[in-house]
Amino acid sequence: MRYVAAIDQGTTSSRCILFDRSGQIAGVAQREHDQLFPKPGWVEHDPETLWRNTEFVLGAALEKAEVRAADIAAVGVTNQRETTVVWERETGRPIHNAIVWQDTRTDRLCTELAGAQGADRYADRTGLPLSTYFSGPKVRWILDTVPGARQRAESGELCFGTVDSWVLWNLTGRHITDVTNASRTLLMDLRTLQWDSEICAEIGVPTSMLPEIRSSSEIYAEITSGPLAGIPVAGILGDQQAATFGQACLSPGEAKNTYGTGNFMLLNTGTTPVFSEHGLLTTVCYRLGEQPPVYALEGSIAVTGALVQWFRDNLGIIDAAPEIEDLARTVDDNGGAYIVPAFSGLFAPRWRPDARGVIAGLTRFVTKAHLARAILESTAFQTREVMDAMRADAEANELNLESVALKVDGGMVANDLLMQFQADILDLPVVRPLVNETTALGAAYAAGLAVGYWSGTDDIRANWTAEATWNPAMPAAERESRLRDWNKAVERTYNWAD
Ligand code: G3P
Repeated sequence: MRYVAAIDQGTTSSRCILFDRSGQIAGVAQREHDQLFPKPGWVEHDPETLWRNTEFVLGAALEKAEVRAADIAAVGVTNQRETTVVWERETGRPIHNAIVWQDTRTDRLCTELAGAQGADRYADRTGLPLSTYFSGPKVRWILDTVPGARQRAESGELCFGTVDSWVLWNLTGRHITDVTNASRTLLMDLRTLQWDSEICAEIGVPTSMLPEIRSSSEIYAEITSGPLAGIPVAGILGDQQAATFGQACLSPGEAKNTYGTGNFMLLNTGTTPVFSEHGLLTTVCYRLGEQPPVYALEGSIAVTGALVQWFRDNLGIIDAAPEIEDLARTVDDNGGAYIVPAFSGLFAPRWRPDARGVIAGLTRFVTKAHLARAILESTAFQTREVMDAMRADAEANELNLESVALKVDGGMVANDLLMQFQADILDLPVVRPLVNETTALGAAYAAGLAVGYWSGTDDIRANWTAEATWNPAMPAAERESRLRDWNKAVERTYNWAD
């Protein structure tokens, strides 16, 4: 058995990556899918396309690397989290498009559910605020909207799943999720790791439509058809938890930051959940088989890389995302302009559903190059806010936040200008690992551990190697002044949406 295959069904594309025992990439295939925006604030995916693309990349990765099924020890699944699919148990047909994590259509519903008790009504049990981000209210919206759906759900005819469940259902015919994905629904009790029937009833999601919750690393089932028929699926992790695992953040105090469509910083807090006083989420980081679960504090930022896509697709100023770095380098600074991409409101640490994006500080001096720079900088500023929250929570909980350097990964970390600015704004070194595909790698590790391909987490630590480090070089006074201006711009996003 030479490889483990990881499927990564993400927000913008589906990928399959093959890894060898040293955690190096042996093959990869990727296919993008359409983002559907039926109304302002709504974001959907076609679930059939997500599955077809997943099936395609599985076959394509094997073919390109000239690897046979007999060479694959196990398959791990990782996925965009919270995105919600409801399908018919009998036919496997979805009854509605997938409602994506960035979608804000449940805004009013969340306010209603919060009622007098407020948005933190379920926080002590689920670790999450009532927000449009999470799956439970999205399921409720589908059941309230699709004719006959509620009754069919109650009689057991419909299945709900986050994208891991949807992929697993199609691969194996089983209706299963893992603890990390379940912890993003607002429906699971973080301590018992079971669905909370009281919350399910209050949000309006019948428990009969929920998948079985399993650990992140165990043999769930064998693949039933296609090129990998008979190979076990043995790992499931939400993509951010997978990246944390792939970055070998395996001890309390270790953190990583992933730069994708959005940014997600996760801090391993050990086997007891830590609850934030500073706008972070509590989530399950991973659970290996029967071992105790490991928890994390998470700072989720909705829009970072997606802002570069918006610059490319909606404004048409660049043709390809990497061009933003060249354009930004033609000027020395942002020319006084700040862009706050509150497209889905603001997530951590501010949680302002009423916020909408602004460009502040415009004068006739500002060019598209300054805007390119402001776009990159917005990612770094948002990350700084999350890091401040993380430091404050870590201190309050006597957690020794590993402060030597921040481990980073994801598409945007190829951008040197951004990484240097990130180190400057954090006043902390930033380090990128040799294998930047940490999300897929984490899912591969979870699957490989379950079938004995890797013998334990020491193998994961041994495989992690640094590739590049950026050290802070900005004078403190300049950093403080930019942070002040950023903060002023953020406050201008408030009270926009009703
Ligand atoms: O919580 C949303 C997150 O899982 C999405 O990640 O990498 O698909 O943008 P990504």
